[in-house]
Amino acid sequence: MNPQVQAMYEKMRAKLEKVVPDVELRYKAEIAVEINELKKQRNAVILGHNYMEPALFYSIPDFTGDSLDLSRKAAQTDKDVIVFCGVRFMAETAKILNPSKTVLLPAEKAGCSLAESITAADVRALKAKFPGVPVVTYVNTYADVKAESDICCTSSNAAAVIESLHADTVIFLPDEYLAKNVARETGKHIIFPALSPASGEEGKRGEGEEEKRRKGDGDNLLDVQLIGWRGRCEVHEKFTLKDIQTVRAQFPDVVILAHPECSPEVTGAADFSGSTNAMIRYVKESKAPHYLLLTECAMGDNIAAANPDKDMLRLCMVRCPHMNMITMEDTRDALKFNRYIIEVPEEIRVKAYRAVERMIKIG
Ligand code: 13P
Ligand code: SF4
Repeated sequence: MNPQVQAMYEKMRAKLEKVVPDVELRYKAEIAVEINELKKQRNAVILGHNYMEPALFYSIPDFTGDSLDLSRKAAQTDKDVIVFCGVRFMAETAKILNPSKTVLLPAEKAGCSLAESITAADVRALKAKFPGVPVVTYVNTYADVKAESDICCTSSNAAAVIESLHADTVIFLPDEYLAKNVARETGKHIIFPALSPASGEEGKRGEGEEEKRRKGDGDNLLDVQLIGWRGRCEVHEKFTLKDIQTVRAQFPDVVILAHPECSPEVTGAADFSGSTNAMIRYVKESKAPHYLLLTECAMGDNIAAANPDKDMLRLCMVRCPHMNMITMEDTRDALKFNRYIIEVPEEIRVKAYRAVERMIKIG
């Protein structure tokens, strides 16, 4: 092993020896050294979402964090190139905030079921149906949807963003479960109006369920404070109350953490619900013997590596196929071959910028 690779391998092993097999660490240390060299040559910064696999997470990113955190880092960087180890909507947000930089996403098809669940035409249809009602959009959306919104939010600031508007009623898009969780947290009543014909949702889900979604549950605004949309995270929607009951029966002293993209039944039965950063903080600052993380499984490995004295249970049959597309090999090739470049048309970017920047100011 050359001395640089040896040093990288030692650094990774110090963190990951109980989580990643040694043979993988040796192989990935070599790629990490190559990436760091390319990073210097290209004057690049690497941002890594908390869902990145442990060898990547603990070797090449200059910054790791949740969506809000990484948006801030993207806005602040003075490097020429931003490599986003995350999914497309995150890389787009970086481009929206820092348009003079080259933003690269290592896997072209790393999408998100929430971002796919709504179009800009859907938002325009909702605004036409509920004129004057402000639109809050989760950052897990594409730039053209953000451009139609008054303000964005992430899972760590959704309630604060809604409350900052001081509005009687707010349109909150597109995550059904995040909306229901926020409605419960803020004591608001929520409705899901009939889908507009422009939605393009048809055919994406089971027929009975699709019919229910299309009908909506009434557009009468009396007593309504939140107007939601039926988008879902394909990962977090899979966790159930039964999963929680089964794990509690096996590990009575387990502490359960659920991301707010889980259903209200699941977040309600969990001990804590918060953004990926908030979950990391919670484990660090508490002292339970067992934790169960109801979120993308790789984050459990990353938390386990940082807390070797704590036992992390994770339900790894539920994975995010999009986040899992980001590999160290593709990150190296992104820098080497300058791919995949994220572009946002300027007229859309300017409007989306207003919504994202307004959120960042709230914090
Ligand atoms: P966070 O903002 O909590 O990092 O969540 C992003 C995400 O996509 C969760 O599925
Ligand atoms: Fe999207 Fe869900 Fe994957 Fe997060 S975990 S990127 S919300 S599909």
